[in-house]
Amino acid sequence: KRPPASILFIFGGSGDLNYRKLTPALYNLFLDEWMPEKFAIAGIGRSAYSNEEYHGHLLDGITKFSRRKDEQNEHWGDFSQHVSYLQMDGDDAAAYHKITDLVKEKEAEWGQHPNVIFYLAVAPQLVPSIATKLGALNLCSDVHCTRIVVEKPFGHDLKSAHELNALLSGMFKEEQIFRIDHYLGKETVQNILALRFANALFEPLWNRNYIDHIQITAAESVGLEGRGGYFENSGALRDMVQNHILQILCMVAMEAPVSFDANEIRNKKVDVLHAIRRIAPDKVHEHAVRGQYSSGTKKGENVVGYREEKGVNPESAIDTFAAAKFYIDNWRWQGVPIYVRTGKYLNQKATHITLQFKSPPHNAFPSEAEDVWHSNKLTISIQPEMDISLSFQVKRPGQTMTLDPVNMTFSYDDASKDHAPEAYETLLLDVMEGDATLFMRGDQVEAAWKVIMPILENWESNKPTDFPNYAPESWGPDAADQLIAREGHAWINTPSA
Ligand code: BG6
Repeated sequence: KRPPASILFIFGGSGDLNYRKLTPALYNLFLDEWMPEKFAIAGIGRSAYSNEEYHGHLLDGITKFSRRKDEQNEHWGDFSQHVSYLQMDGDDAAAYHKITDLVKEKEAEWGQHPNVIFYLAVAPQLVPSIATKLGALNLCSDVHCTRIVVEKPFGHDLKSAHELNALLSGMFKEEQIFRIDHYLGKETVQNILALRFANALFEPLWNRNYIDHIQITAAESVGLEGRGGYFENSGALRDMVQNHILQILCMVAMEAPVSFDANEIRNKKVDVLHAIRRIAPDKVHEHAVRGQYSSGTKKGENVVGYREEKGVNPESAIDTFAAAKFYIDNWRWQGVPIYVRTGKYLNQKATHITLQFKSPPHNAFPSEAEDVWHSNKLTISIQPEMDISLSFQVKRPGQTMTLDPVNMTFSYDDASKDHAPEAYETLLLDVMEGDATLFMRGDQVEAAWKVIMPILENWESNKPTDFPNYAPESWGPDAADQLIAREGHAWINTPSA
């Protein structure tokens, strides 16, 4: 069933996110017949574009970045007639009548009241000013249902996230606010819930009695991609751990939901965040490791170190790598370490979760079997591999009792990768349908900030002495290996190997 009639206003309409992600996603929804019967999209920006030039710009983005970029764009004309460009400055309150004018025009044309969606794909410092002006339009009466979509980063720390929540909730109800974390729209991330709660097989083992530890890796092979200015105010912990990684952790660790209701799922997730043990300020060095990449080579090409990047302070203390160890203080997870890491310019792009099971309680095999004594692992690969793999031991064929680990793998690549929607397709459709299950509630965002604040505060008040401390194409600083080795563990870099 298609969503109801909708108008989408995209602030940052001439920006990168819209060009690479939002318009390609909306066009794919259109091709798959998921867009509403009646819809309009208005890109908002300060640059000057005629509608025609704007369409040309967007089509260029589609041919470069859409998952269907190799297909003919024969339906582009049908789609682009729904798209217009509004040149306006988001700071200029007098210009906002352009929004109400378009809403009235579409209302008259369609003979019905559409949903009005404001997508704020803009720099975080612009969000309060735009949101305040949108609130003042007072479009959300009985006839209009307005929604506001806010991109990450949601705040810069706990205090600013709290202030932003307070500002938004002064103008919009929580059900109208969609805080996007695009990882939650990824097929493989959503599949964590199916794996855990649509099967009776795994859940009895999914706890401290059987699981030794959990690892979450979100490694990136790319560097800054021209975002030096942004990254200098962020760093890997803020950019990836506060949001994407903690959200994945919540899905791995949450209790079973009673229903698929948005608030039920989000309640269960926020419980996890509340239960994560606060890291004591004087123990941060035992629980977290930061890194920054040096110059080096990547795929045989020379690349500059972080401090030489455009827009970066030559003495920058910003982390381009972060690793941490968390504990969840509840019945299910007491004592189970959860190691997470992320970084730029690492050895490969690889996001995966591994649940390492405990070893069998007693080894009854002859000693030659012991050499290959591996405990069971369940690995959920999010990207670029999209699979779930269970590793267990079998007897190696032959006259001796020797054991070998083998994998049993379900692969999305074989099943349906070509048809798998991109995260932004799923999330934009959910916004149009008004389904907030995969979006972060205000209290969730704040709870996630609370988890990382002790690390952030410690890092900000103690400048690193060893930066830069890892080379491009490595797996990060040595200290990250030591972090996990202290409990006798090692990072799993390529789980399928
Ligand atoms: C974004 C971060 O949220 O996620 C980027 O700001 C990062 O720095 C990106 O590169 C990674 O997303 P994906 O979907 O490519 O893993």
